[in-house]
Amino acid sequence: MDLQVVPLHKYPQYKEECCNLINDEWKRSTTARMRSLESSCDILPTNLILLKENRIIGHCKLSIVPSMKNACFVESVVIDKLLRGNGYGKHLMITAEEYCKNILKLEVIYLSTKGQELFYSKLGYSVCQPISIYGSSISNVNTYHCDKTEKTNVNKSFPCPPP
Ligand code: ACO
Repeated sequence: MDLQVVPLHKYPQYKEECCNLINDEWKRSTTARMRSLESSCDILPTNLILLKENRIIGHCKLSIVPSMKNACFVESVVIDKLLRGNGYGKHLMITAEEYCKNILKLEVIYLSTKGQELFYSKLGYSVCQPISIYGSSISNVNTYHCDKTEKTNVNKSFPCPPP
């Protein structure tokens, strides 16, 4: 499979396609969506896109958790409607986790989902308490937590830079 997961801000030519992909799942104004995508950067927030043969087929956004310097919050995980069920979502998430661990030097990924619990549990996520982002509590949804350090042996003697 010719698949690549890359930060959107390094491939700005995909911004419009990315906007359409996300808006096809969660309708929002193009202006607001494009503004959000334009905030992608090397430190958080970072929008990662999944490319297959130079076409965008997936997206996820890594956001800051203000109270936890070693964590990020993953949102807007989406795969092109016509291509679901082929392992692309799993590939996107696993590569995003590697990006969090190796590039951003993070140790924990949080996300919340309603309806995709099995997808995330198959990826090793387990239920945890809601966390606070942007100063407010995430509630009414299941919050999943995955500590990848146990599985991938992140070396903790290197201090993690603040995101
Ligand atoms: N229910 C149960 N199992 C599932 C589901 C589901 N809804 N979706 C995927 N799986 C399983 C697959 O069967 C597969 O299992 P296997 O490894 O045993 O074969 C495994 O999860 C991986 O599936 P993929 O084919 O990689 O999943 P896909 O490419 O379809 O992507 C995704 C999954 C991203 C959830 C996609 O269905 C999608 O875009 N859905 C709509 C948007 C959405 O709900 N996104 C998640 C929001 S939550 C958030 O963003 C944090």
